[in-house]
Amino acid sequence: MEYRNAQRTYKVLDKINLSICEGEYISIVGKSGSGKTTLLNVMGGLLSPSSGKLYLNQHEIRTMKERNKFKREYVSFIFQFFNLLPTLNVEENICIQHYLSGKKYSMRKLNGLISYLGLEGCRNKLPGVLSGGEQQRVAVARSVFSESKFIFADEPTHSLDQESAERVMALLDKINRTYGRALVIVTHDLDVAQGADVRLKICNGNIVSASI
Ligand SMILES: Nc1ncnc2c1ncn2[C@@H]1O[C@H](COP(=O)(O)OP(=O)(O)OP(=O)(O)O)[C@@H](O)[C@H]1O
Ligand SMILES: [Mg+2]
Repeated sequence: MEYRNAQRTYKVLDKINLSICEGEYISIVGKSGSGKTTLLNVMGGLLSPSSGKLYLNQHEIRTMKERNKFKREYVSFIFQFFNLLPTLNVEENICIQHYLSGKKYSMRKLNGLISYLGLEGCRNKLPGVLSGGEQQRVAVARSVFSESKFIFADEPTHSLDQESAERVMALLDKINRTYGRALVIVTHDLDVAQGADVRLKICNGNIVSASI
């Protein structure tokens, strides 16, 4: 994967060959700038690789007719910098995937999730007035509530205190183990990384170690 501007090309990822199975739990660690977010964005289909291919169930994503619908159904992100929709309130942000797909949702489940993540007081607020940690918990809730088969989580606890971070990790763990939703998590927290089934380390755009 390369980034280009008018002057030059920056190679960020090189010769990476990875597959994720349904229900798998993968952690990715590596120094700042090593390419973790880029890798997550390529794996989740947000960035098209400058060379190489991305497949979903043996179909190349780029040439799929209904790729956007597929991506919505399969993929959700907990972005490093949250990316909440600024004109929607917290509840609307969390439910966005259901609004887009037209699928019904359970108000009981929504209330349970909001309460578990300590977001009751924020429910009707816009993202712009939330603290970083509140925004991060909304981003977690949005991804969890989407019911996507794959969750790509980019440092999902970096703005949280220890207790909230543990709650978020327990939730993601449960979603993975109980509901079989695949989880790919980028983290600087080695304890979090240890919890995964497959642990990857990325250095200068290459995967330098993989332990199962
Ligand atoms: N859109 C872009 N254009 C040019 N260079 C970019 C772009 N996005 C990222 N980069 C560069 O690619 C490299 C990898 O960035 P990336 O965000 O993937 O790192 P990271 O491992 O997630 O870092 P961090 O731990 O700080 O979040 C960095 O050197 C970054 O400056
Ligand atoms: Mg990053």
